[in-house]
Amino acid sequence: MKEVPVILFGVGGVGSALLRQIVNGRSPLATRNQIQFNIVAITDSKTMLWDKAGLSDEQLLAAVDAKTQGLPVDPARQARPSEAKIVQKVAEANLDSAIFVDVTAADGLEPVLMQVLNRGYSVVLANKKPLAGAWETAVPFYNHPRLRHESTVGGGQPVIATLRYLLDVNDPIYQIEGQLSGTLGFICTQLDAGMPLSQAIAEAKAKGFTEPDPREDLGGKDVMRKVMILGRMAGWPLEASDIEVESLYTPDLANLSVPDFLGAASQLDAAMKERVDEACVNGQVLRYVAELSEGRGTVGLKPIPAGSPLANMKYISFRTGFYNDEPLLIGGKGAGVEMTAAGVLGDMIGLVREQ
Ligand SMILES: NC(=O)c1ccc[n+]([C@@H]2O[C@H](COP(=O)([O-])OP(=O)(O)OC[C@H]3O[C@@H](n4cnc5c(N)ncnc54)[C@H](OP(=O)(O)O)[C@@H]3O)[C@@H](O)[C@H]2O)c1
Repeated sequence: MKEVPVILFGVGGVGSALLRQIVNGRSPLATRNQIQFNIVAITDSKTMLWDKAGLSDEQLLAAVDAKTQGLPVDPARQARPSEAKIVQKVAEANLDSAIFVDVTAADGLEPVLMQVLNRGYSVVLANKKPLAGAWETAVPFYNHPRLRHESTVGGGQPVIATLRYLLDVNDPIYQIEGQLSGTLGFICTQLDAGMPLSQAIAEAKAKGFTEPDPREDLGGKDVMRKVMILGRMAGWPLEASDIEVESLYTPDLANLSVPDFLGAASQLDAAMKERVDEACVNGQVLRYVAELSEGRGTVGLKPIPAGSPLANMKYISFRTGFYNDEPLLIGGKGAGVEMTAAGVLGDMIGLVREQ
């Protein structure tokens, strides 16, 4: 049995699902893969639980419970060391072959992740930000043998693995296209049904499909990060300025509080209705699509035939040397925390297998 120390940054939706999957899957993981993950540390933004020998399953599930109730992972609420000090602590404890898992949405973790990799540890990311910053800081994380990030795009669908396979077999990537946001997909289907944009936003928020501030989704930045990750993997050294992003709200609404934004969003309705109606006359629906080719991309609303399978699916397609006439298509259910966590777990297992 391979015992693998794990350090988890982030115990939100994805981190909690991951901990539950590890605890509930201990027996199949041992039988099928001969792996035992010892969760040495779990951290939220302010506190940490640590046990060099591995936290017990009871401690892990209690921490998940605490987070669900809005409490910190450490019941004693002791301030945690910085991420850099945590890496140091792992080194001092001689936890060789440790895997650091970043399931936060935090900015600025790049230096710590570099430190982790330089010390010979492995990294799994669901956090897109380290891969989507300036090319110069992000480049060391691409094609690194000890870094995996399946869940950064497609939320668990094997998108990164497929692209990695295409690159491994030297198949040139010509074009990448996809509907990469479940939230915007939901909003678009509400628009098809004649719902005003402001109401579709409010409904998506009420169902918990949006970020706490829906502008995070509507601005298209998250979709831009996803397509940038795919494009960079494909070999284009993209910067944010290479991808044109259409925001679904106007700049004058950018600085309002969330309630004020939701109140004012009705001023977006008339212009959007005009676009929906125009598409409808042509037998089309609007979908929020990301497209990338030859190192340049666009992210925004695009009319597509109403009856086409792509109108009703979260998908990513690759047009490549082998798949030129008919692109390779990956589609299916959109992201959720369980699938995203499963993507992270799959990466952790993959890293251990390759060690
Ligand atoms: N949700 C999905 O379906 C999905 C799909 C694909 C990818 N992702 C990505 O997965 C990541 C996690 O998503 P989520 O939905 O689980 O987010 P979330 O519920 O907001 O949880 C984020 C967690 O990270 C913690 N955190 C923030 N900064 C930290 C730091 N510097 N060190 C340690 N912990 C820190 C937060 O702590 P506090 O509780 O103290 O704030 C919280 O526990 C995001 O990057 C997201 O884009 C999510």
